[in-house]
Amino acid sequence: MDIQSWIPIVYLVAAVSFILGLKGLSGPTTAVMGNRIAATGMLLAVAATFFDRTFQEYGTNALWLTAGGMVIGGVAGVAGGRLVKMTAMPQMVALFNGAGGGSAALVSILEYMHAGETGTHEWGSVLSTVLGLIIGGISFAGSAIAFGKLQGIISARAYKYPGQALVTVAVFASTIVLGAALVLNAAGAIAIDGATVLWILLGLALVFGVVLVMPIGGADMPVVISLLNAYTGLAVAMAGFVLNNHLLIVAGTLVGAAGTILTQLMSKAMNRSLANVLFAGVGAAAGAAVGPKSDDGRTVREVSAEDTAILLGYAQQVIVVPGYGMAVAQAQHAVRELADLLESRGVNVRYAIHPVAGRMPGHMNVLLAEANIPYEKLLDMEQINDDFKNTDVALVIGANDVTNPAARADRSSPIYGMPILNVDQSRNIVVIKRSMRSGFAGIDNELYLDPKTGMLFGDAKAAVEKVVQELKRAA
Ligand code: TAP
Repeated sequence: MDIQSWIPIVYLVAAVSFILGLKGLSGPTTAVMGNRIAATGMLLAVAATFFDRTFQEYGTNALWLTAGGMVIGGVAGVAGGRLVKMTAMPQMVALFNGAGGGSAALVSILEYMHAGETGTHEWGSVLSTVLGLIIGGISFAGSAIAFGKLQGIISARAYKYPGQALVTVAVFASTIVLGAALVLNAAGAIAIDGATVLWILLGLALVFGVVLVMPIGGADMPVVISLLNAYTGLAVAMAGFVLNNHLLIVAGTLVGAAGTILTQLMSKAMNRSLANVLFAGVGAAAGAAVGPKSDDGRTVREVSAEDTAILLGYAQQVIVVPGYGMAVAQAQHAVRELADLLESRGVNVRYAIHPVAGRMPGHMNVLLAEANIPYEKLLDMEQINDDFKNTDVALVIGANDVTNPAARADRSSPIYGMPILNVDQSRNIVVIKRSMRSGFAGIDNELYLDPKTGMLFGDAKAAVEKVVQELKRAA
């Protein structure tokens, strides 16, 4: 069998590996294996494409160019995967996602030019080219803005200006009109300078990516990135049609579908519609400082690390509720040490994982797994929510919104209807955070005024380490 006959078989194996990989990624115990399976499939696919296209079709110059690109991309990928901190993962995903969208747009441009040289513009393939260019361009520019907002290069606030909706609609409409013109041109219905229109179309797609993402607050970026990821998948599938590459079509469609599902899940877990995420400009304001008193005279009760150590040391059932603050403080290893100490004293320690705790899907799972906390101790909200009432201490570490009882009762609250962890049902609650500032949603949390709640103020890592010291001292 010659090398050419092997290509479809390798592509089929790679396509199956992507599907198995995605399946594996749906649970924490199988995620690492799933990732490896999909990565192996991708390696096979890249190797097969390299031998197929580069060797057979394009000659030695292309060989060196492609090999050079693979080395640069490989080094950037490995370095990114190893060096980037867990908290910076959303912006890295944005960067990689943007690169995918940009590549799809470049493929569209090159193939359009190439077909023009050989005089073979055919409207069906121009349609795929135009869609790949538009979607890829939007994804590239949108991801770049998302990266800038998360990295602090651009202000994370939601940029709003008068007539914004009009500008957005006008840019989008012009993009569609020019795209349609290119297709009609290829079909022979009109005659325009296709190459010039193509460049203008690229410019419009990039501008649309910018005007779409700039008005969205920085904290909503993970949802936006997931949506742009779905766009990139579609753009890649279009590139697959343009290049007549079946694996690109399969991989792009899988990414498109997975990104769409993830976007919906994230919006749903925040009890918001996708339209609200995209157009309401939520989450741009920094957390406001609130007073320690409520109108009815209830005050916040501050506790020390020593008090917390005593409370935990005498407990039988403890549930740790991690949140964004644990990620910021990188407190996961200290949390593990605390849990080990408590378990050595016979305390049952489990972790309640809210679906949108932190700032990206699976944020808490990844951090706690990094600290080697066994998966079976990490329980989803539905699994553990009924157990809070039988819990001696709920230890909230840098979580806020996901514990806010206003979501259940206060119809006027922006998070009303969002499912929350039933932390308030525990016998005792200790909340570790630095101040009385609000979390992502920018609202006060009644939980802090509950007489059962003690506030241990401080950076999550330092505070947990202090509790560990106190426990060791008492032992
Ligand atoms: P948040 O409600 O954002 O609260 C985090 C709290 O951590 C803050 O109140 C902050 O209080 C505290 N904190 C920050 N740095 C800290 C540090 N170094 N040490 C100790 N505490 C620290 O977090 P959450 O409860 O995890 O809820 C997540 C929120 O993000 C939800 O509203 C969710 O809808 C939203 N969201 C989630 C996602 C995904 S997919 N997870 C995506 C987009 C948005 P201090 O400033 O007082 O310390």
